[in-house]
Amino acid sequence: MSNLGFEDTDTILTEDRLFAPSHDVVENANILAYMKSKGFTDYDAFHQWSLENRFEFWEDMAKELHWFEPWQTTFQWTTKPFFQWFAGGKFNITYNCLDRHKDTPTWKKVAFYWEGDDGSSRTLTYEELYVMTNRMAKGLQNLGVKKGDRVAIYLPAIPEQVAALLAVARIGAVHSVVFGGFAASALRDRIIDAEAKVVITADGNYRGGKHIQLKKITDEAVAETPTIEKVIVVHRLGSDVPMQAGRDVYLHDLIADIPEDTVVPCEPMDSEDLLYILYTSGSTGKPKGIVHVQGGYAVGTYTTTKFVFDIKDGDIYWCTADIGWVTGHSYIVYGPLMNGVTSVLFEGTPTYPAPDRFWNIVEKYKVSIIYTSPTAIRGLMRFGEEWPAKHDLSSLRILGSVGEPINPEAWIWYRKNIGHSALPIMDTWWQTETGMILISPTVILPLKPGSATRPMPTIEADIVDRDGNAVGQNKGGFLIIRHPWPAQMRTIYKDEDRYRTYWETIPDVYFAGDAATKDTDGYFRVQGRVDDVIKVSGHRLGSMEIESSLVSHPAVAEAAAIGKPDPLKGEHVKVFVIVKHGYEPSAELEKELKLHVRTTVGALAVPEELEFTPSLPKTRSGKIMRRVIRAKELGEPVGDISTLDG
Ligand code: WT7
Repeated sequence: MSNLGFEDTDTILTEDRLFAPSHDVVENANILAYMKSKGFTDYDAFHQWSLENRFEFWEDMAKELHWFEPWQTTFQWTTKPFFQWFAGGKFNITYNCLDRHKDTPTWKKVAFYWEGDDGSSRTLTYEELYVMTNRMAKGLQNLGVKKGDRVAIYLPAIPEQVAALLAVARIGAVHSVVFGGFAASALRDRIIDAEAKVVITADGNYRGGKHIQLKKITDEAVAETPTIEKVIVVHRLGSDVPMQAGRDVYLHDLIADIPEDTVVPCEPMDSEDLLYILYTSGSTGKPKGIVHVQGGYAVGTYTTTKFVFDIKDGDIYWCTADIGWVTGHSYIVYGPLMNGVTSVLFEGTPTYPAPDRFWNIVEKYKVSIIYTSPTAIRGLMRFGEEWPAKHDLSSLRILGSVGEPINPEAWIWYRKNIGHSALPIMDTWWQTETGMILISPTVILPLKPGSATRPMPTIEADIVDRDGNAVGQNKGGFLIIRHPWPAQMRTIYKDEDRYRTYWETIPDVYFAGDAATKDTDGYFRVQGRVDDVIKVSGHRLGSMEIESSLVSHPAVAEAAAIGKPDPLKGEHVKVFVIVKHGYEPSAELEKELKLHVRTTVGALAVPEELEFTPSLPKTRSGKIMRRVIRAKELGEPVGDISTLDG
């Protein structure tokens, strides 16, 4: 199972500088206010209390949201490892993102400052987002979308994308957002697995100045999906694209006759009803549909947004992720809107048209909280300190990081150049499956570069060996979590067995699939995946997905994909390819195979390195041993190869 040795542990452990938070920040922290209400000022003591009173903590949080009907049971196992939070409650997350703010000052407040790739911009208040969401919800109903139906969303980062998620959830349907960078066959497979009835897409968009033909890709995908009845097309570019009569409809036509004051009442959902499916890579070729539900997911994302980013009324919050990933679901759409904060929504890339695009946006909108990725930081570091130095970044007060380990060098650069050598960095560890941040500082904790610090309230994380025994301080091992939390995935869509593996790999605990250490202060350092998941620029790819793509090419007999450490992307993909009889390895074939991966999976999966090889190490049963290939490639000890084929 492991392709990652724990031998990297020593180098990273030498980084032990401690950065204390400032007194003012601590005094005003949201988390401290809650701690004090329970009689605590010390996080250690509070965290210990939260472990013993986890239900009280989550009940307190849930009460800050609106329930149509209160829940009866805070938590219960059904048939382990299946469980429920807030069972019996009636709830709608969209109500909590929008309707709940009516008659409060939030209603007239900006929900999103939208910044297009091309520099165009739009501003939407909570009220305007509410109007857009209701009209879209009505439009979906008019197309026959009902509670429980699945709707695929394949859109760029525009306000309509946010409204689409909210509209689907409002009427009790289930969204499945597909990242706009995925190719047609990846979109097709996700639509087929979710059995989506409708897909919402756009005429096209620009990213980093490049034209992306979303509708064309959607047409290709939908040609092979039996369940899609309607394709809704949002005008992002205002261009006319081929429309199939009876199937395709422009959003503006769909809602043309729906008055602005239309209100579609929020469907009162059971807490445990599905909110969304989001596909992510695992260690097989088939992406898994992670299932999140209405109630607990809302409570978890609301709470962590409030405490980790310490949201205050005047904040301008910007999460630079894409809504196609879980970070966007939890920390662009749901968590921030439930907290009533003003956000920036950005369609483009960090370096277009110049490497100061991010800092330009921070200055323009006076962003006070920025949440981005180590890959973005490392990428911008390359261009030098002069780019951020050109901008007034004094509005910032909190920095965030997510998606992969942040190396101490990048951490220090981020703090110095973006954080005026003073701002705290929230290095947040979590996963698509966890739904919410699980290990992260809050603004009251002293920080160590490269450490996600401590588990959130009620979260009992540990480092264990294969048998589940705690390995102790400063030793490498598997990261596990001992009890369910509200925003956790409930299952893998249509694949309960695959869900069970999370709780069965190491009996009775949640197995995250990461290697990590815990130091004498209880600070965690997450090192990387221990399965066949590769993290390229923070994006999650499965070795098997890339291999399946390659072997679907007529020239390829067999293929193996591994992740290799990369100074910029964290990891990059290297593939080893055996060609079929009658084909010769060549530079042209290499190019063709890379293009094949691009058009079948997407640009993010394209291997950086491709090596033709006559053979691959296999087990006696014929399974390719990626662990051995990787160790050889990196010059590391190969370890136990007793099951290796002669
Ligand atoms: C994997 C989950 C969390 C939302 C975006 C990624 C890695 C994530 C950190 C961090 C070290 C991290 C882990 C994890 N990861 N955050 N702060 N430090 N590693 O979600 O695509 O489901 O990937 O991302 O390896 O297992 P995801």
